[in-house]
Amino acid sequence: MWYDTPATKLLGIRFPIIQGPFGGGPSSVELVSTVSNAGGLGSFGMQSLEPAQMIDVARQIRIATSKPFAINLWMSNGEETGSSPEGVHQAGELLRPYYAELGKEVPPPPERFIPDLGDQLDAMLEIKPPVFSFVFGIPPAAIIAACKSLGILTMGTATTAQEAKALENAGVDCIVASGFEAGGHKGSFLRSAEESLTGIFPLIPQVVDHVGIPVIAAGGVADARGVAAALALGAHGVQIGTAFLACKESAASSPHRKALRESHSGSTTLTKAFTGRLARSISNRMTTEMSHSSSNIAPYPIQAWFMGNLGAALIQGHDDFVSLSAGQSVSLISHDNARELMDEIVRDTPKIFAKYCLHQ
Ligand SMILES: Cc1cc2nc3c(=O)[nH]c(=O)nc-3n(C[C@H](O)[C@H](O)[C@H](O)COP(=O)(O)O)c2cc1C
Repeated sequence: MWYDTPATKLLGIRFPIIQGPFGGGPSSVELVSTVSNAGGLGSFGMQSLEPAQMIDVARQIRIATSKPFAINLWMSNGEETGSSPEGVHQAGELLRPYYAELGKEVPPPPERFIPDLGDQLDAMLEIKPPVFSFVFGIPPAAIIAACKSLGILTMGTATTAQEAKALENAGVDCIVASGFEAGGHKGSFLRSAEESLTGIFPLIPQVVDHVGIPVIAAGGVADARGVAAALALGAHGVQIGTAFLACKESAASSPHRKALRESHSGSTTLTKAFTGRLARSISNRMTTEMSHSSSNIAPYPIQAWFMGNLGAALIQGHDDFVSLSAGQSVSLISHDNARELMDEIVRDTPKIFAKYCLHQ
């Protein structure tokens, strides 16, 4: 059957469909459990959660599903930026006009911008998720060894064949090959994100030819046509983000959901405006205006923190100031119900294969 792949065998799931994790808020227990209960693999992005929150969310997921699920972290939390107090001050100053527009002062920076990665990794081991997926690098060797001894499967994100090989060499069980079409951050870690932008069509065969472990394709897939194409190119599964983000089960904010629904082809752009790291979002006033001062954008996590605080703007209806992360498949969104999306993919993928076999 089309759905019996090395990835479904490894992950213990029925269909090779993974719901992509969403760090920073849009993940939900309901979306994870709906996808896992439908035979795919639901994933929860825990990048912004403190350890106690991670443990609580995992507890809720286990109540909602007995099937495998993934939790996701970022392997580089920005300590490499070496932010000076002046750099932090400048980051706030760049955004001062936007804060002023909302009648707010730039807030003083916190002692810590993001949760401690070491603490998050300890929490992940305590949770013992069926699958630990990650982006922006490779976990320390001791963490990979601990995952192996605890029976936690590891899934690392690669944006190039070289990154995929490095993940395999580190002992990771499975690769997410992420094309530049994908919504959210470009998780490159060997070279800069700008130097690692590869479309999913060339990326799948490049990665499959380089590694001997299962490869999950991510980026640009929103329906059965994309799933069939990715499998035909050699992928063993597909990770879908944008199309699941638009479903009612996700925790996307209502302006984000509305933007996903109303966007057309060509409406996304790559920007560092929201976090200091390159990511794909629906264009809005912030992406346009920041593109004129891109050299002044602070590195992650400083930019992310100051922009996140502008998020209060959302309540006031200024969705032009917030990140509307989405991939190039945004105009292909056709469902607002994750179960129906899963069911349609499962029903239609074999039809796509049959159609093209008949034309041989
Ligand atoms: C809002 C949003 C947040 C995301 N956050 C993460 C994350 O924290 N970790 C991660 O590995 N991938 C993250 N991604 C990538 C998705 O999990 C998935 O790989 C990607 O969306 C697939 O491409 P598509 O959007 O074209 O379907 C995010 C994507 C979006 C849209």
